[in-house]
Amino acid sequence: MKGAPGPILIVGGGQGIGRATADAFPGQTTVWTRTNGIDATDPHSLRTAFTGFQQQHGAPFALIHTIGDFAEQPLLGTDQATFRHLFASNVDTVFHTLQTVVPAMVAAGTGRVVLFAAAGVDRDRAMLRAPVYFAAKAAVVQFARSLAAEVAKANITVNVIAPGLIHHPHSHQESQTRLRPRVPAGRLGTPDDIVGLIRYLLSPAASYVTGQVLTVDGGLQG
Ligand SMILES: NC(=O)c1ccc[n+]([C@@H]2O[C@H](COP(=O)([O-])OP(=O)(O)OC[C@H]3O[C@@H](n4cnc5c(N)ncnc54)[C@H](OP(=O)(O)O)[C@@H]3O)[C@@H](O)[C@H]2O)c1
Repeated sequence: MKGAPGPILIVGGGQGIGRATADAFPGQTTVWTRTNGIDATDPHSLRTAFTGFQQQHGAPFALIHTIGDFAEQPLLGTDQATFRHLFASNVDTVFHTLQTVVPAMVAAGTGRVVLFAAAGVDRDRAMLRAPVYFAAKAAVVQFARSLAAEVAKANITVNVIAPGLIHHPHSHQESQTRLRPRVPAGRLGTPDDIVGLIRYLLSPAASYVTGQVLTVDGGLQG
């Protein structure tokens, strides 16, 4: 299948969905992870990395942010360190990445931004399983809706993918096994189920789709 029309920057693509995305666009992606020396909670680290990226590639056509640690704890049972970590991983990394990278995309006058939330984030009800994680993902959705409006005139779309239970070797296997009966599709998702949607969002067919939350969860209930 044809790739994207320009360079793709994946923030957090060392494993899981980000890794599968990098594999799907061979030769077109740059991956930023802690393992390769970039900490997306640190704006200075991102700015240094982006200077190097721009010298080599110019502005990215697509920015895909896949960082977002998970913790399953009730609200009153969440300690300060876990709270801070969940917001640093899910919210700070998105904010700093957008501020570092998107101005160059605006200057280039084209681009696609893909962020990640989690299935259920846009439903008007409690998410008892992981309330702090879902609160952080709700912030990501609001960032995306606002940014979509801010950059639409620059021919940039901004969307959020909300995965359900996506299996990969490092995923939360215990909770996924427990919740699997709630998936009408009868199976866990795979990173490739998400990659298909990313291909669409990076394609000309999606040029008028922006500010949306797109759920990929096999019909996950509850
Ligand atoms: N998998 C699921 O079932 C599921 C379900 C719902 C939502 N989601 C969301 O979908 C997204 C992708 O999930 P995933 O399970 O594929 O992710 P993942 O396997 O946890 O991979 C996250 C990647 O982010 C990197 N990373 C973490 N913190 C970083 C930091 N501070 N700076 C730079 N890189 C960092 C990690 O690399 P290093 O180890 O090198 O740091 C890793 O490559 C996340 O936002 C997640 O919340 C996933």
